[in-house]
Formats: sequence, C-alpha cells, structure tokens
Amino acid sequence: MQTDPLWYKDAIIYQTHVKSFKDSNADGYGDFRGLIEGLDYIQQLGATCVWLLPFYPSPLRDDGYDISSYESINPTYGTIEDFQSFLDAAHERGLKVITELVINHTSDQHPWFQRARRAPKDSKERAWYVWSDDPNKYQGTRIIFVDTETSNWTWDPIAQQFFWHRFFSHQPDLNFDNPDVLEAVKNVMRFWLKMGVDGLRLDAIPYLIERDGTNCENLPETHEVLKNLRSALDAEYQNRIFLAEANQWPPDVRPYFGDSDECHMAFHFPVMPRMYMALRKEDRTPIVEIMRQTPEIPNDCQWAIFLRNHDELTLEMVTDEERDYMYKEYARDMRMRINVGIRRRLAPLMDNGRRQIEIMNALLMSMPGTPIIYYGDEIGMGDNVYLGDRNGVRTPMQWSTDRNAGFSEADSAALYSPPVVDPPYGFQGINVTAQERTSTSLLRWMRRLIAVRREFKAFGRGTWEPLHPDNRRVLVFLRRYKDELILCVNNLSRFAQYVELDLREFQGMVPVELYSKNGFPPIGELPYLLTMGPHNFLWFRLMPPEQAKQYVGQRS
Ligand code: NOJ
Repeated sequence: MQTDPLWYKDAIIYQTHVKSFKDSNADGYGDFRGLIEGLDYIQQLGATCVWLLPFYPSPLRDDGYDISSYESINPTYGTIEDFQSFLDAAHERGLKVITELVINHTSDQHPWFQRARRAPKDSKERAWYVWSDDPNKYQGTRIIFVDTETSNWTWDPIAQQFFWHRFFSHQPDLNFDNPDVLEAVKNVMRFWLKMGVDGLRLDAIPYLIERDGTNCENLPETHEVLKNLRSALDAEYQNRIFLAEANQWPPDVRPYFGDSDECHMAFHFPVMPRMYMALRKEDRTPIVEIMRQTPEIPNDCQWAIFLRNHDELTLEMVTDEERDYMYKEYARDMRMRINVGIRRRLAPLMDNGRRQIEIMNALLMSMPGTPIIYYGDEIGMGDNVYLGDRNGVRTPMQWSTDRNAGFSEADSAALYSPPVVDPPYGFQGINVTAQERTSTSLLRWMRRLIAVRREFKAFGRGTWEPLHPDNRRVLVFLRRYKDELILCVNNLSRFAQYVELDLREFQGMVPVELYSKNGFPPIGELPYLLTMGPHNFLWFRLMPPEQAKQYVGQRS
C-alpha cells in the first residue's frame, strides 16, 4: 500500500500504555499479545494510529520513561518478537504506530550511566552524562517536578560528583555535547525504525543542551541536535515522523518545526488548558487569544491536539492568574494537584457531564491539528486520586463487568494497579461491552464523531479562521481546504444561545449539517442566525446551491 507522506496530517491518534490495555497471560500487567487482541477495538473507534508509552526495560520509577536498556522490551510486556507481531498486526489493519524516543535522560540503572559514574573524572565515558563539582551551576534553570525534586543536581557518591537531571533524581540527563552520545542515540532510533515504527515521539526535547547564563531550554544547540537526527531519518527512511514533546509557549515551539528540517509534529500545549478555561468561563476568548499567538508552521508540519494524556493536565503554559482559575475550577481537592498541574481524567474534569464531554471532544476533533485520544476517555473512564504520582490516570482499561474489568484474569491483588471501582466511573457501569450494546453511549457517539471528521480533509489540513460574532459564548471558525469549506459553531455556555454570523462572503451557499446532511437555509445578505442548545456544537459544510441540491428539503 502506498503511504501518503503527509499521513500524519489526517491521522487520529490513540494513545495507550501496553501495561494498561489488556493482559493476555494473567500476570496482572498488560502486554503486546493483549494489545494485539485490542487492535480491532482501536480500529473500530476510527483511530488510524497508535501511540505507545515506553515499553522498554526500566525500573519503572517514572512509568518507563526511566529506560535502562534502549533496544529491548520490558519482559513483563512480552518479547521483541511480540512487539514485531504487534507492529505487523497494526500495519495489516492500516494502523500506524508511534513509539517513544526518550533521549534527554536515562535511568540511573542504564549501563551507560553505570559506566560513566565509575569512569575516571574527565574521561570519555564519564562525559556521557552532565557532571559538575558545583551544584550551583546553571542556576537559571527551573525545576520541573517541583513536588519531588529540590535541585536539578544530585550527588553521586560513586562518581564523587553531582549529575544533572531535569526530572527525577534517578534520571540523569545525557550529555549531547558529546558526539558519541548523539551517535548512540541515532543508533537507538535506527533500531526501532528498522523494525518498522512509523513515528517517534521525542520526549522532553527542549532540555537536551545546557549552557551557563541561560535557562537551559530551547537552546540553538538543541535544535542542531534535532536537525542532525532529522537528517538521518530522512536519509535512511521514508514516511516516518518525529512528534515533539516541547511544553513551551507557541513562539518557542515554532523552532521545533525548523524549516521542515526538525519535527513533523509538535504538541500544542498552550491551547489545551485554554479549552478547559473557555468551557468553564463560557467565553471563547482564551482559545481565540492563544490561537492568535500561534505562529504559522511549514506546510508539511502539523500540530498535535489533545485534551488529556498520561501526565498531569499541565498548567505550565498559562499565566499565574489563569493557573489559579484552573485549580479553583477543576482541582479544589489538593489531591487532584501534582507538580504544576491537575491529575484527573477528562470525564471527572467535566463532572461526568455528557454534553460537556461531547463539546470538548468536538473541539478536539475540529481544532487545527491531529487529535490524540487518551485511552479510556472514549468511554468516559474516571481516575483514582488516591494513587501516587500520575498513576491515578493510568488505571486498567475497562472492558467489561468481568473480574478486573475484563482487563486481566490475574488475582486482583496482582494487578499493576487497581481498576476504578466506585460509581459513577467504576467498571461495573463504565466499560466497553456495555457501551457497545447501547446506541446512545459515549463510545458509539465518539465513533460517529470520528467518522464524520474522517470524511473531510479540511479538519486535518485546512485553515483555521475564527469569526467574531458579538456573542462571545459561542466559538465559531472556518476550516478551509481545497473545495472543502467547513463551518464549526460551538456553544460554550450551559444555557441556550443565539449567534448572528457575518457570512456575507459566502452569500448563496447552503450550510449542510455534517451529521444529518440536512441542508439549512441558504446564506443571504443578513446575518446568519443560529440558535444553539446548551453546550451544543454544529458542523456545516458550506456548499454551492447546485451541489447542495440533494440535501435541501429532505430532513433526516
Ligand atoms: C515526559 C513524560 O510525558 C512524563 O511522563 C515523564 O515523567 C517525563 N517526560 C520525564 O521522563
């Protein structure tokens, strides 16, 4: 099958952890064999790509982002053959696979670190990591895991030096000033690409290089490293992509696309909390404002849009005032907070409100970029704020009312994490099987939403053109691509609203609603009036009257 080199622009990404999805051998942990069994489900949802969290050998003190061996599989999840079978099974279904390339740091158990800490000071081997005799170096650098770490330096009694780490103190940062490190990392990249993975999420890339007198983020030398990786990717492989995890303000993220010579995609971190803010404030301003500040990106690049992921809902890219607002509205209980963010899933954040969950997903599917669905959010899974770290949003997938939510046949005590049991989110009520049987379920609704989105390339590739009607409770924008012209109208308010749209530019055209295919009255000279129910959204295709004929007058 020919792959469109821009496949990632039309993709619908499903993010999951092997550990959390399905356990095939009753040991309490999900594995690749289980994931293969779950592929039909992912495909039926309408996803076109699976993004897997780290599955490499690891002490699991950062859920696998603390890697102790780059070119193998954590035995709990299976073997390298199992991974290859998974990859083949995904590809047979036309699903792409994105995996993690975690290169900023390793686990302190990685043989590279074990060698470095024992090697003589100033030796080549020691220089695989970042060392100092003075823990006051790079003072201008913020701490990311503020709840657990007090410094970016940790004393290593074996090396008799401090080592640098932007995350946990068991995750030393690799030294990208050392060309040997860059070569080694490229080989890791090649290893997975050679197996056939379609994309690599580049974890924590703003922090690759450190320099005195800077905040050690987004440095020009970091971009040099990325360009170097990209040129190896382009020289040796086709149709593979990089997805940048750079939790930064829009102007600082822009360079990660380079001149189409760094990453193909990057998460749009700042728009995410603003979707939540806009909903709670019932005002489109936060979204419109951040989009105004979002720079243009090269044609072959793409934003990745998400509502939730495996981490806390990060509030790093908001102002202090906005952060206070988010905490007050979405995390009153202190247990819901961690580091600079909120450790809750989508459904609980929406207080389980169906309309609210729907409009957030409608935004996810219509804002510019490729949407990413976090496993379980498509059925409205809840979280468990009593579990440590971010584990409360990483509980087992809820398949059925069977023991352990149908996730595993192990003893319940053996599970890597307890499933959510309390109402209203417990697996007795919220599970795949029940939702497949109910035509009004969130799962079935999500399948339709995704199917409608997939009918039009404009959602993945089109422009984003906001309209500015007087009623700020309604967010309206156009998505335009070739002959596709889509109008998206979102009522962010919990009350009914009307909105008058200036659509004179499209006079004579007929708005055809995308779900029902009902033709609405043609656009005239006067403002186009729409009445919206609470948290209602409407998607229209604006069509010339001759093309819309078949849709006018018939009402489904
Ligand atoms: C980013 C990952 O998303 C997060 O889960 C992890 O803790 C940090 N990188 C550090 O590895």
